Amino acid sequence: MAVIKILRMGHPILAQVAAPVDLFPSQELEQLVGDLWDTMRALDGAGLAAPQIGVGLRVIVFEVADNPRYPDAETVPPTVLVNPHIEALGERMESDWEGCLSIPEMCGRVPRFQHIRYCGYGIDGAPIEREVSGFHARVVQHECDHLDGLLYPQRIPELRDFGFCEEIEACSSGE
Ligand code: NI
Repeated sequence: MAVIKILRMGHPILAQVAAPVDLFPSQELEQLVGDLWDTMRALDGAGLAAPQIGVGLRVIVFEVADNPRYPDAETVPPTVLVNPHIEALGERMESDWEGCLSIPEMCGRVPRFQHIRYCGYGIDGAPIEREVSGFHARVVQHECDHLDGLLYPQRIPELRDFGFCEEIEACSSGE
């Protein structure tokens, strides 16, 4: 396992639709997930998607526990999600500041569904299904966007709500 260099906005892999994982458990998947955790934690991220370390597979990891970048955020248990699927529960959207490890030092105000149900598989192939809201729901929507080649600036309705974190007091950096 290793800390991998994160691809930044503009790299073509970040704009591609990632492929589903069709074999698990596998050594390759375990290696990939280990690299995702090591890289995410080294940078105090809340989540990371496989394309961000150059792997075009539908795998994400996320966790929020005493994260210095998100001191007020609710706790999100460490989760590996393979081939995730999201369903919005209700129409309600909430706008809040987001950052991304692929877009260092920037942040933007992004509308996301407030309540979602997500499902997918763990690293061992066991199904996972959860209903979540708030920051947890935001992180999962952000990471799943990476699997469809979308970065958060593409979700910002007003480009004036996008800028450098140091200039925008309300936002924090990181995923
Ligand atoms: Ni991101």
